[in-house]
Amino acid sequence: TGYVTLDSGYKNTGACKSAITFLDGEEGILRYRGYPIEQLAEKSSFLEVAYLLIYGELPTEAQLSDFAGHITKHTLVHEDIRKIFDGFPSATHPMAILSSLVCVLTGFYPESLKPNQSAADIDLTIVRLMAKMSTIAAWTYKNAMGHPLNYPRNDLDYCANFLYMMFSFPTEKYDINPVIVSALNKLLILHADHEQNCSTSTVRLVGSSNASLYGSVSAGINALWGPLHGGANQEVIEMLEAIEKDGGDTSKFIAQAKDKNSGFRLMGFGHRVYKNFDPRAKIIKKAADEVLQALGMQDSPLLKIATELEQAALTDQYFIDRKLYPNVDFYSGIIYKALGIPTEMFTVMFALGRLPGWIAQWKEMRENKEPIGRPRQIYVGATERDYTPMAERK
Ligand code: CMC
Repeated sequence: TGYVTLDSGYKNTGACKSAITFLDGEEGILRYRGYPIEQLAEKSSFLEVAYLLIYGELPTEAQLSDFAGHITKHTLVHEDIRKIFDGFPSATHPMAILSSLVCVLTGFYPESLKPNQSAADIDLTIVRLMAKMSTIAAWTYKNAMGHPLNYPRNDLDYCANFLYMMFSFPTEKYDINPVIVSALNKLLILHADHEQNCSTSTVRLVGSSNASLYGSVSAGINALWGPLHGGANQEVIEMLEAIEKDGGDTSKFIAQAKDKNSGFRLMGFGHRVYKNFDPRAKIIKKAADEVLQALGMQDSPLLKIATELEQAALTDQYFIDRKLYPNVDFYSGIIYKALGIPTEMFTVMFALGRLPGWIAQWKEMRENKEPIGRPRQIYVGATERDYTPMAERK
């Protein structure tokens, strides 16, 4: 058999050719389809970025209104999905519900399982997924709170409707806060794609077996859930809260993070690819300042601790030597918290943002007719030996 190169964690292995996202970790550059992330975060909307990622170009006004209109039309989910909520144990993590229900969409749309779907059918699957995942995501929260589930409102745009489904009550008038809508758009845009990260590679690998878009994205959601990936945003807030509870002494936690035997890492620090800074973290930090200001929460103790921690780590030789900088997850949790989104929902928010990227990557893989993914290994187990009868085993 052929020669196999070991590359644990795929640190230096390109698994595909892709025209979606450009990332330069040394220079801290991130572009979607050539457009700098800074410009998109400032000027675009989440659905416009989703269109850009999935279809390759910024939409015209008519294309965007068509895309957004289709998504709005499909935000309702089948009533049977509501019933499934009743079957989940009350402590089920929202990410588990999200991945299960996204996979279950195959049961409502079995045609999505066919590997030779037409481009128009794939577009419908994409629109359904974009639309229904926001409803399911909001419902995971309502379910966890024991609140009645809110049906989507088609007079609202994507982000405003999501916030409405999350936070409104049938018994109260719900006011849309434009500052919050704009912050949510920005956060989702910043998370929308990040080339071949763990969850996206999962989506491509699962999809390479001709699995459906729903099944592939469901697997991606589970990959994202892990604390070393998207789950880090939940861990960051829990860490900041633990530091606050402990009296706010950041140096103690930094010392612990440097001690390899402690098993503790500074959550929200470090990145496999960014070795100078994470451009998303810069934008998010600024957005966090703006949101807290707008909501009158600028004295947030967690923001103070985060800023102190960042300063202390950035001047500490351990972090300098290893090029460990705050990543996208470091400040995003502070914004989510200010918006009233509970900690358990943070990774669901990440998944909602990453969805267009997963879709674009899955679609690109299909269109490029990539072969099934099948890594090799270096075998390090026993050499051939004979079967030992039970009585002779020690
Ligand atoms: N705190 C303390 N030490 C760290 C940290 C940290 N957060 N991250 C890396 N190190 C050390 C690590 O111990 C190692 O030290 P040494 O060379 O002495 O053995 C060195 O830095 C290199 O780390 P690595 O684990 O080999 O690097 P990696 O590229 O395999 O891991 C990472 C990248 C993001 C998983 C890691 O930095 C980490 O665990 N960070 C904390 C979790 C986190 O914030 N994840 C979110 C990532 S960004 C968004 C996303 O993907 O969802």
